[in-house]
Amino acid sequence: MAIFSKKNQDTFTDAQDFTVLPEHIGIIMDGNGRWAKKRGLPRTAGHKAGAEVFKSISKECDRLGIKYATFYAFSTENWKRPQSEVDALMALFKNYLLEAKADVKAAGKIKLKFIGERKGISNDLLKLMDEAEEETKDHTGTTVYLAINYGGRQEITSAVNKLISSGKKEITEQDISDNIFTVPECDLIIRPSGEQRLSNFLLWQSAYSEFWYSDVLWPDFTNDDLHEALRAFENRNRRFGA
Ligand code: FPP
Repeated sequence: MAIFSKKNQDTFTDAQDFTVLPEHIGIIMDGNGRWAKKRGLPRTAGHKAGAEVFKSISKECDRLGIKYATFYAFSTENWKRPQSEVDALMALFKNYLLEAKADVKAAGKIKLKFIGERKGISNDLLKLMDEAEEETKDHTGTTVYLAINYGGRQEITSAVNKLISSGKKEITEQDISDNIFTVPECDLIIRPSGEQRLSNFLLWQSAYSEFWYSDVLWPDFTNDDLHEALRAFENRNRRFGA
């Protein structure tokens, strides 16, 4: 039985409180800019607050025993944002990876992986990403996929191109599944901030995803919000088209 206390405080919700948990959740971390604007702060302050929430929610996924969690951190379209905002986001990714490196235990048993196009990302960030994957590869907790420079259409297009260059004449669904980033099928997609769009996130892997939306802006998203999404998922009747 889950005992919910006030927002942002400990909730005594455990994996056993759910009859079923999603294996893989995808989270679109949206609303940082609006959160900052409401406070008269620069957008980058919203991203900074959002990065803290990413850290706490990824740890909560691990504590609950969720197998995979994919966080949409930077899309292929986000390069169009002002350079100062792009730089601030890249700096946040680097800081997080440096922090995780300095104190691997701080990230718990989380296994870090990255999806997205490497081209365009600076060499120093790529190096930190590679090191983080290597250093956490034996971790047994949640696999956290950080989607950086990621776009679902780009992912599928590049899989098709790989198959064409390999000489394939006819492409099957399995071929595409085998050639996109190795992220499992997504069970639940969570999008805070009131928007109800997929925004080019996990297009292939979300074919049978359940969706959960909330008006909460990402920097205000708490463990309780995650539990609410999981509670909603538990009550969905998934038929996979049958
Ligand atoms: C979309 O909200 C959010 C992003 C483009 C960036 C998401 C990145 C983070 C939360 C930082 C993650 C940090 C680490 C360490 C992984 P928006 O800025 O478009 O918000 P708005 O729609 O309110 O303007």
